[in-house]
This record gives sequence, C-alpha cells and structure tokens, in this order.
Amino acid sequence: MIKKIAICPQCSTKILCEGEKDQRVEVTCTNCGKKGMVFFEHLEELDFYPVNEPFAFIKILKDPESLDQYYRVIEPILTEQEKKTLQFIQETLIKLINVRLDEIESNSVEKLLVEHINQIRKDYDIEIDDVLKKKFLYYVKREFLGYGRIDPVMRDPNIEDISCDSSEVPLFLFHRKFGSLKSNVQFDDEEELSIFVVKLAQKCGKHISLADPMLDSTMPDGSRIQMTLSRAVTTRGSTFTIRKFRSDPITATDLIEYNTMSVEMVAYMWIAVENGINALIAGGTAAGKTSTLNALCLFIPREAKIVSIEETREVNLPHPNWIPGVVRSGFGEIVNDKMIGEIDLFDLMKAALRQRPEYILVGEIRGSEAYVLFQAMATGHTTYSTFHADSTRSLIHRLEGKPIDIPRVMLASLDIAFIQINARLGDKRVRRCKQIVEIVDIDPTTKEILTNEVFRWDPITDGFNYSGKSYILERIRAQYDMSKEAMMEEIKRRVTVLHWMRKNNIRKFKDVAQVVALYAETPDRLMEQIRSGVTVIKNTEKEDNSIKSKEKETSKKKIIEVEKDKNQVEVKKKKTSSFFFKRKKKMVFKEGYL
Ligand SMILES: Nc1ncnc2c1ncn2[C@@H]1O[C@H](COP(=O)(O)OP(=O)(O)O)[C@@H](O)[C@H]1O
Ligand SMILES: [Mg+2]
Repeated sequence: MIKKIAICPQCSTKILCEGEKDQRVEVTCTNCGKKGMVFFEHLEELDFYPVNEPFAFIKILKDPESLDQYYRVIEPILTEQEKKTLQFIQETLIKLINVRLDEIESNSVEKLLVEHINQIRKDYDIEIDDVLKKKFLYYVKREFLGYGRIDPVMRDPNIEDISCDSSEVPLFLFHRKFGSLKSNVQFDDEEELSIFVVKLAQKCGKHISLADPMLDSTMPDGSRIQMTLSRAVTTRGSTFTIRKFRSDPITATDLIEYNTMSVEMVAYMWIAVENGINALIAGGTAAGKTSTLNALCLFIPREAKIVSIEETREVNLPHPNWIPGVVRSGFGEIVNDKMIGEIDLFDLMKAALRQRPEYILVGEIRGSEAYVLFQAMATGHTTYSTFHADSTRSLIHRLEGKPIDIPRVMLASLDIAFIQINARLGDKRVRRCKQIVEIVDIDPTTKEILTNEVFRWDPITDGFNYSGKSYILERIRAQYDMSKEAMMEEIKRRVTVLHWMRKNNIRKFKDVAQVVALYAETPDRLMEQIRSGVTVIKNTEKEDNSIKSKEKETSKKKIIEVEKDKNQVEVKKKKTSSFFFKRKKKMVFKEGYL
C-alpha cells in the first residue's frame, strides 16, 4: 500500500490517500467535496514540502528501477479555457497598471491587483468564482511580483543552482539534500524563454539584447545569474544559470556540522585569521570556497578595517568598519581594452590599498588583480581570497603561469593555502577541506617552495589528520612570546568554545561573531560561563524558531545580554583579554610597491 498526499485542485486542501502501485483511485476532497482521480505512479516519493502554501508544493520522486530522481513543482491546475482567461487578465492588467509595482508596499500591491482583477471582471463580464479568483491571483502575483515560471524553485531554500540549458529540455536543479535533479519546469518554446531572459535582466536592473547577448549579474534577492540571449552565442537558444543566494551565510558552526572541517582545523584558522595570517582558499567550481571564506572572515577582529572586492556581492560580514566593493561594467567606447566607465577588480584593488585596510577580501582572483593582491600581502596587509585550483601544485602552477605571472619571491608572502573539494561519499556529494598547507619559505639555493601540510582529509575514515607541526602557530607563538603549552591550551580553549557553539546550535553569523568578539575581549569570563552552563548570548536562531512555532518560553534560563553587561566587560577587559587581543592594532606598512 502506498500512502500519498494529494492537493485538491479546487481549494488546495491536502488529502491523504492510499492505493497500490499503478492504481487509479477516486478521492473526494474533505473540504469542498470535489471528486478527482489520484494515480499511484511507480515513482517513489522521497520528500514533499510547501514553498508557497497553499498554492505551490515540491515533490521529490525517485524511479525505483532506473534510480533517476525528479523534482516536481505542483501548482494550481487550470483548464485550457481558464488559462486563456488568465492570459487575457494579465494582458489587460499590463495596460491598466500605470505604477511600478516594486516601488509599492507589498500589502498595497495585493490590494491593487485584486481591485484591478475585479474591475476587469466587471468590465468584460467574466465569470470567476472565489476559488478560481484565488488561483488567478496566485498566477498574477507569480508573474508580476515573482519570478514567473521559476518562482516556486526560487522560493525553495533547498535549491542551490538552477540551470536552464534551452527551451527543449527541462530545468536542471541542484538540491541540497538530493543533489542533481531533473525538474518538471520547462519553457514552451524559444520565444517564451527569450522573453523570460529579457525580463530577468530587467529585474536585475540590466539590459540584454542581440547586440550584447551575454550578461552576468546579481538578482534582487542577491542570487548570481549568468544568461545568454538567443542562438548568437549558445546554439541551442537562450540559457540562464542561477546560483541561489543564502540569506543566512554558512558559518564555522555549519562547517563543523557538515564535517567540511574538523573542530581543530577551525580553531587553527580562528587563531590564524585573528592574527592576520594570509590565506588563499582554492577549490573547484561550487566547492564552497566563497562560503568558507565568509565563514572564516567572522574570525576577523570586530574593530578591524576591512575592504572587500567582488564581481558580484556574495561576502556578508557583521563588522562595522567594512567597505564592500563591487565591479561596475562600462558603456560605450572601448579605450585601452576597457569600456569607458568600467571599474574592474584591478581598479578596485588599487583603490582598496589606498583605503588603508587591515584586511582585504577578494571574492575570486583570476587575472591582473592577483598581482596587486600579492603586492598587498607583501606590504603587510592581510588578504583572503578564493582561487580556482584543486591542489596546492595546480594552485602554484596557475599563480606562476600566464596570465597571472606572480614571481616566486612574491608567492612566499602567502601563508596558508586551503584546498576545498567537492567529494563523493557513498551516494552523497559532500564538501571537504582536503588540505591546509602552510607556505613556509623558498629554498635559497634550489628556489623550491617549502610547504608544510598541517591538516589532511582522509577519505576512508572521513576524518582529518594533523601532521603535528605548524610553522604558523610557531610564528604567532614567537610574536607573543608564548610557551608551547600556552599555545596548546589556547587551541584547546577554542575547541571547547566551538564544541559548545555546535551543541547549542549557535550558527547564525551574527551570533557566531558575537561569541568571537566575547572571546577576544573576555576569554576567561566566556570560558567560565560555558563551564557553568549559563547562556551568554542571545541565540537568534533559537528565537526565530520559537517565534515560528509560537511556543511560549518556559525555561527560566538566565540570559545575560551582552549589552547589559557592557560596563562590566569594559572593566574586565584589561585584566583578561585574550593573548592575541593585544595584537598590533596599527599595521606597519612596508615601504616600496605602493
Ligand atoms: N561546506 C559546505 N557544505 C555544504 N554546502 C556548502 C558548503 N559550502 C558551500 N555550500 C553550498 O554550495 C554552494 C556553492 O558555494 P560557493 O561558496 O558559492 O562555492 P564556490 O565559491 O566554490 O563556487 C552554495 O549553495 C552553498 O550553500
Ligand atoms: Mg565563489
């Protein structure tokens, strides 16, 4: 017997029904009494969840024979006649509405749309009952305010990537839990798809045309999109690829939870980042480089000045003294290989150096900006960036080769190379930090780069091995005149804090940053509070959950808000600041280069 939830096409009520494989069963809606047939197909149902209740749902299906998995969007069903009426209403609405909907408050937009639909109904004497009106309103909102056909997919937080390769094939999606899936969303023909692509470009505030058929942009919700129009550059017709934006970025707690890194590795990176150690995060496409970069940057001291440079905005930090920079495309004539008005990574990089930041973050280095980044490292700035390479060898090879051309002496300014990969573990795709490698020095005679692998992932046990030696920690130790034992103790304490964060589900990026700031200012106090089990921060994750479930707070846990205790913190600060917090507040810039 197969159990299944059917959605009433009339009133969207969920109906639980049972049947045998390949059987057709008649069911009656418990709410409105509508009768209908439910087909118990041979596909196995893996998951079922709403994305826009009560109208849009997602089903994940699996073919038990071929093992293919499918992503099915379920939306209200319309008859052919109803589809025509809807199209007429939409076309009339376009003529009627003379304001920009995205500039009006969302509540008023719905009111405005309902009023106009009612008006059209009256003017053209169209018969629509209440149920159909709701369905029409859903489709009108999807079209006018949402992302049209792909709206349910855009609303699904489990989807990482959306690829539309042509109008001849359905959209392919990457699901966080189930991996790559074929969907049931497809454009009718090339014309519909190209109109859609033009609309998407407009939604991003950009322009795409046959004269300029390629566009890279950021969508209003922060997702990244790359699109092409017509057959000019992509022979199967228009295409688009969306990299969905995560509104709550991945944090160190998540990296530990997903086993992308071990607690010890995070503790090591915590100390490194806090002390201005440079790093490059390398990996393949979608290996999670940018996410790891963002997570590690939460360890940057709160008061540090940060400048970030990206092609599309991805980095998200809670630091107050942060200037986020994004490139701008040019317009008109091309002068010196560049369009007039264009500001690229290289320009932003040069400008960043003049802003005297302590930390420079670059979304991804590919070309001439890499050279400036290494110059910045050589002149005492701390930099973090991502780079496309899947091993230390290929990283160095690509950095030294054309077109980047970094001289070997300059490579030595890099402290840590971090290699992240997309690995297959059983039938799951996972992200793992394959290696953390320290660039120790350059052999003066052979000119070989001397590296030290500190951590390595073991694919057999899915664990991480520590080599037992870290030159970076030694260097930091020497800087503060710390004993070996004190350094070990420091790592242990941070490991305790990280375990505690994970156990208490402190994962929102602002909460993690708060713990990091508390640890920097009053480490002993934080450790004491962790030991005694007192909640030291406001956990917004918990708060959100409790608001969602509307449960009353019953536990009488003592919540000490950081704000309230500020005075106390100030007093204690001098006595107990962490070893590293006494770090050089002012950067010493080396002469030359700039
Ligand atoms: N450690 C991780 N574990 C699971 N998913 C991850 C991890 N890091 C990133 N992701 C997801 O992978 C996708 C690609 O991540 P991103 O950081 O943009 O990759 P990259 O910069 O390497 O191209 C995103 O949807 C992100 O949510
Ligand atoms: Mg990236």
